[in-house]
Amino acid sequence: MFRIKIILVLFAAVISAVPVEARAESEKVERLLIYGASGRIGAHIVEEAVSRGYAVTGVSRDPARLEQFADRINIEVGDILDRERTADLVASHDAVIVSVGGKPANQDPAQYVAALSADSLVDVLSRFGDSGPRLIFVGNLFTLEYQDGKTLLELGRVPETHENYAMFYGHQIALETFRKSRQVNWTVATPPNGLRLEGRTANVRWGGDVLLRDPDGAPSQISREDFAYAVLEELENGNYIRARFNVAR
Ligand SMILES: NC(=O)c1ccc[n+]([C@@H]2O[C@H](COP(=O)([O-])OP(=O)(O)OC[C@H]3O[C@@H](n4cnc5c(N)ncnc54)[C@H](OP(=O)(O)O)[C@@H]3O)[C@@H](O)[C@H]2O)c1
Repeated sequence: MFRIKIILVLFAAVISAVPVEARAESEKVERLLIYGASGRIGAHIVEEAVSRGYAVTGVSRDPARLEQFADRINIEVGDILDRERTADLVASHDAVIVSVGGKPANQDPAQYVAALSADSLVDVLSRFGDSGPRLIFVGNLFTLEYQDGKTLLELGRVPETHENYAMFYGHQIALETFRKSRQVNWTVATPPNGLRLEGRTANVRWGGDVLLRDPDGAPSQISREDFAYAVLEELENGNYIRARFNVAR
């Protein structure tokens, strides 16, 4: 009887010694689908996800661009605008991270890849109903409230002749598309003013729709590594579901 008691006590001690985080680990999202994995921001998101133990699938229109990850992630060919292919890939994953961009092909914001992919994602993810995979979509500074509650677009800082006119307004269209959606568990993760800092500190400040500023009032900066850290933190903590955040060091 005494021996049984000792065994029970030892068993309880072992269970309580397992950190809460480690126990929560088994409940978290495990299979992660990442569009834009070859991009400047997306590649850091892949690194952060791999280092946290996720089973990552990186998607590219040209898989050769993902060679650097060849032995660490599953690589798939895909265009986010191909809805059937996207739906096939989404079906075998628990969450989707999208960091797509590039130079606009023309001056029409509705034709910019951010706007088009938001449309594609809302269609695809809505097919999975309310319990569909979580989406984190990388947005753009120009949609944040910059000054007096207005965005840089509303302040008239981006004329139609600007080379990135379609990109900045395209991101605004994407954000509105997510806000209008009914069944998608979206989050838009927006970098602050710039990504000029370097390295992973895992020490960031969080904000909502209003651009984070430094104590001296200057628009904030972050590194790509810390931005990737924040994207994965949000995926695990779910503080901004159906909302947008910006994050700065
Ligand atoms: N301060 C800010 O607010 C700020 C600063 C920088 C970036 N951003 C935003 O962050 C996002 C990523 O920027 P980045 O600099 O990392 O971009 P990037 O280096 O130019 O990479 C663009 C990525 O988009 C992917 N892509 C483009 N069209 C695609 C499509 N049709 N299907 C699938 N993938 C597609 C490309 O993948 P493949 O070519 O491999 O298919 C590539 O990985 C952009 O939306 C950008 O506007 C915001």
